[in-house]
Amino acid sequence: MDPNPNSRFSMPEIIRKKRDGEKLNHEEIRYFVKALTRGELQDGQIGAMLMAIRLKGMDPEETLVLTQEMATSGKVLEWPEKWRGLLVDKHSTGGVGDKVSLPLAPALAACGCKVPMISGRGLGHTGGTLDKLESIPGFSVSQSPEQMKMILEKVGCCIVEQSQELVPADKILYALRDVTATVDSLPLSTGSILGKKVAENLTALVLDVKIGSGAFYRTLESAQQLAESLVSVGTQLGINTIAVFSKMDSPLGHRVGNSLEVLESLECLEGRGPQDLRELVTTLGGTLLWQCGRVPSVSEGTAHIAGALDHGSALGAFQGMLQAQGVAPHVAQALCNGTEEQRLQVLGKAQVQEELVTEGDGTVQQILALPIAQVLHALGAGRTQEGQRINLRVGAELLVSVGQRVRKGTPWIRIHYEIPALSDINRRTLQGALILKDVEPFVPGLKVIKTLSPSKP
Ligand code: URA
Repeated sequence: MDPNPNSRFSMPEIIRKKRDGEKLNHEEIRYFVKALTRGELQDGQIGAMLMAIRLKGMDPEETLVLTQEMATSGKVLEWPEKWRGLLVDKHSTGGVGDKVSLPLAPALAACGCKVPMISGRGLGHTGGTLDKLESIPGFSVSQSPEQMKMILEKVGCCIVEQSQELVPADKILYALRDVTATVDSLPLSTGSILGKKVAENLTALVLDVKIGSGAFYRTLESAQQLAESLVSVGTQLGINTIAVFSKMDSPLGHRVGNSLEVLESLECLEGRGPQDLRELVTTLGGTLLWQCGRVPSVSEGTAHIAGALDHGSALGAFQGMLQAQGVAPHVAQALCNGTEEQRLQVLGKAQVQEELVTEGDGTVQQILALPIAQVLHALGAGRTQEGQRINLRVGAELLVSVGQRVRKGTPWIRIHYEIPALSDINRRTLQGALILKDVEPFVPGLKVIKTLSPSKP
């Protein structure tokens, strides 16, 4: 049945057109998104439309229109005139140990930007920023547009979930894409990712595109296609958009798992912590400061972000954000200014910590992110169904680094778990993640590979 009998559009006809590989016009795409948002379509029709788009694709013009219509399916956030040119955000294609948003948003706020970050939850084997933040008692990811504005005025950054008010079309489509094998569609991904960014009414966006065995995109070529579509559509919709490609074979940093990643983010916010995490935070932040014209070069932007981490202003903004999003002042204080022990008291620690030791001598060539993520997922750190409760304390600490020489019997990973317990199969899988080679120790290269900017019209 067609949703609106008086409409000059027919959903079955729109599905047929796309099924047969024809181009949809603006009105047809608008009709689809509006009918979807109003709840007028049957799940079967939405699923058929998603699969038709997945199989036949959309050209750049259709993709642009889909993104515009997704963005305006709800409220487009409005900001005071005095913030013009200051609104920035980052999107990551997802990785293991990817906690970049936690230090990046407050570091940018400390450098004078406004960061209205709408983040997601764990997807597949990768973690989600909202889950990490929810390991902090009291932190509320649910904030109305009015509350977001107040937090940006006071602190400069907020990290929130998508709501009924913001891009509702994406909320419906994303849940259905997950169960209809249509997640890996270029136009649908572009509409989904950029729909939310356009609704944030941004000046500049940096895309953190991960490539490698622990990422959704294994090769530079496949990641490049998505990045080109996002940079092109983002730019046409008035957002200064740049993609930064980085390696995701080994986890980012030394800690994986929701509450453990909060601990490592705090170290980064104190100017300490793993070098690869700091590299990504300063590069992505520096790029954004340059994109919105606050510094004359990316390298100066990078230095500004590094300064915000080293001198405590980023940590101060993080503490402000925690309190503005519901964390009690004494809890925020213990987290941001306490010892690791005090931080763990706030975040909670899993009942069991078990160390695995190396099974031979050699130099650590790689620590594969995917098997570690899969074991943690099985131990309850990730979801198999939407809305499922996860154990935020489950995680892993890497006790060795890539390039380091180790002897047989050296503890190399500490797993934090409760129920279910770590099994022998899990232990074997984890041992397979540590790749030792008989070579000289080495200093690992940079994570960032290259940058993609919009081509000149
Ligand atoms: N994140 C999103 O929000 N949408 C996608 O399609 C993929 C990742």
